[in-house]
Amino acid sequence: MERSAWAQPGIDPSVPSLSRMYDFYLGGSHNFEADRAAAREAIAAFPGLPALALANRAFLRRAVRYAVAEGVSQFVDIGSGILTFGNVHEIARRTGGDTRVVYVDNDPVTVAHSRAVLAGDDRTDILAADLRGPSAILDSEQVGRLIDLGRPVALLLVAVMHFLGEDDKPHERIAELRDMLAPGSLLALTHASPEHRPTASAPDARISEVYRKAGATLALRSGAEITHFFEGFDLVPPGVVPLPDWRPDGPPDEEGPKVNSGFAGVGRKG
Ligand SMILES: C[S@@+](CC[C@H](N)C(=O)[O-])C[C@H]1O[C@@H](n2cnc3c(N)ncnc32)[C@H](O)[C@@H]1O
Repeated sequence: MERSAWAQPGIDPSVPSLSRMYDFYLGGSHNFEADRAAAREAIAAFPGLPALALANRAFLRRAVRYAVAEGVSQFVDIGSGILTFGNVHEIARRTGGDTRVVYVDNDPVTVAHSRAVLAGDDRTDILAADLRGPSAILDSEQVGRLIDLGRPVALLLVAVMHFLGEDDKPHERIAELRDMLAPGSLLALTHASPEHRPTASAPDARISEVYRKAGATLALRSGAEITHFFEGFDLVPPGVVPLPDWRPDGPPDEEGPKVNSGFAGVGRKG
């Protein structure tokens, strides 16, 4: 059976994982056949997925640069995924300053891989934890060592909230995190949505089924529902908007793929 050096024993490569499917959308090589098969099925249902994943990473880069420009140099990145090109600490350090990052993911392969990538960097670490247990994240040894919760933090919830169904109490999880952060902290969030689809097709049921087989709930939400996640934060202009429209680096590429199937926003705790 296919197994790579970065996948430790105890991992079943025949079960697709969210982070490795996402790695495949991004053109990465940290995925197994089961991940690729599931990802191809999802792409067959919604061909815009790889472009959406790239637009999501592009937003992440812009949001990290924004945070650094606003003087925030500590990051807690929950649902960080397999570390790939343009990781948060690399983008932030390129922008300037002494950056500290705690990456958090609940997928064991992602955590093992991230640990290997971050080895020797004493200003970053990875924590194996679940977004559904926020206090275990902010009370962790890693956060205690690297993050000063008395100062503003950039909390990144990028392409992860749509894996929490209503039973997981997504609003309460964010509120718990928000209440533990200092004023001036930022929340950067992206979320898949069926709104503003470029085509009238309805691939959601098929994609949800692919993710269900990977053990995940896919909860697509409206722009209004996604905006509600920013309760207690003041939205930074332009607010919650389709991914490519959040402070784009340049004019929109009219020829490029239309990827308006997700929303992005940044808020500041007052
Ligand atoms: C689509 S990837 C996003 C990766 C990265 N944030 C990005 O946007 O490039 C989603 C990640 O969230 C992780 N994840 C899903 N549910 C989670 C949860 N409840 N707690 C922590 N991580 C979770 C998955 O393992 C996966 O690595």
